[in-house]
Amino acid sequence: MKIALTGIKPTGILHIGNYFGAIKPALELTREYETRYFIADYHALNTMKDPKELSACIREVAAGWLAAGLDPERVIFYRQSSVPETFELAAMLMAFTAKGLMNRAHAYKAAVQENTEKNDDPDAGINMGLFTYPVLMAADIILFNADVVPVGKDQVQHVEMAQDIAQAVNFNYKTEVLKVPRAAVRESVAVVPGLDGRKMSKSYGNVIPLFAPEKELRTLIMRIVTNSQGIGEPKDPETSQIYLLYKLFASEAEQKALSARYREGGMGWGEAKEELFRVVNRELAPLRERFNAIMGDPAGLDAVLSRGAEKARPIAAATVQRFRRAAGIG
Ligand code: ADP
Ligand code: TRP
Repeated sequence: MKIALTGIKPTGILHIGNYFGAIKPALELTREYETRYFIADYHALNTMKDPKELSACIREVAAGWLAAGLDPERVIFYRQSSVPETFELAAMLMAFTAKGLMNRAHAYKAAVQENTEKNDDPDAGINMGLFTYPVLMAADIILFNADVVPVGKDQVQHVEMAQDIAQAVNFNYKTEVLKVPRAAVRESVAVVPGLDGRKMSKSYGNVIPLFAPEKELRTLIMRIVTNSQGIGEPKDPETSQIYLLYKLFASEAEQKALSARYREGGMGWGEAKEELFRVVNRELAPLRERFNAIMGDPAGLDAVLSRGAEKARPIAAATVQRFRRAAGIG
């Protein structure tokens, strides 16, 4: 079976956009691939300097994936920081990475551009972690012999850099020391709209958290922005974000029924929101319960992650050993 690997950055609470855009598709891959998923905590350190916040995020995101259905018996699930071989490999890969390649990375270029526009020093506020991010990510991937790396579009460039770096190593030693990965872009996943109609994103403050308590979930849904069409007016379901969200949670028959009611008129936005709340809560209530149970058992969560690290480390050690031998470092 081919190997799929992806990293999950623990930078904030999970929301419905993450669930449909990343978590569900990643869990579906476990049927076709041998999967290795990890919490990219050293990547998060580049931007998160508050220890309490970082440690809470790591636990919440790990618990979130487990609550959403990740089966740690089938997926090797671990924290990046529990696999120190990552950092040894990253150091070795540095020797094969052109500095110019890092200059071209989107995230770094965007930060430089923002500084330039503000007439600031081009490198203001940019740490070496951000600059060398693609090398660490290449190490994450190459360490576990990943064939495919399922990612959103924004991460494709990073996977291509991992490809370049692995090829540079193989070219130098004239043998396939490292597996060359490829990106599997999630083209078909919908962009989940947020409460204000823009893409749901932490940075826009328009999210529906995946594990919000029932009362908060209802309040948030009632807050979805709508237009001023009255109850009697027929409405177009496809331009209503209430309906677009509804489609993610409802059965075909429910979708048909609600879209007919939109088109007939006679249904107000308040009622549409009630319908949305009903189907969202139906799907999320069991997830929320599992999430709360996992968060209430910190030792259990630690045990799951340590077992994952125990399975991951021998694979990682073998890759590093192979590379060291090829390099003459024995
Ligand atoms: P955010 O935009 O809230 O900061 P992240 O950038 O941390 O979210 O995204 C983590 C993963 O979730 C990525 O793979 C991204 O493609 C996916 N994702 C985030 N928001 C959405 C959305 N609104 N619709 C679909 N997928 C999303
Ligand atoms: N950079 C990815 C993101 O921001 C997270 C990540 C880190 C990752 N290491 C990875 C993804 C390795 C895939 C493979 O979402």
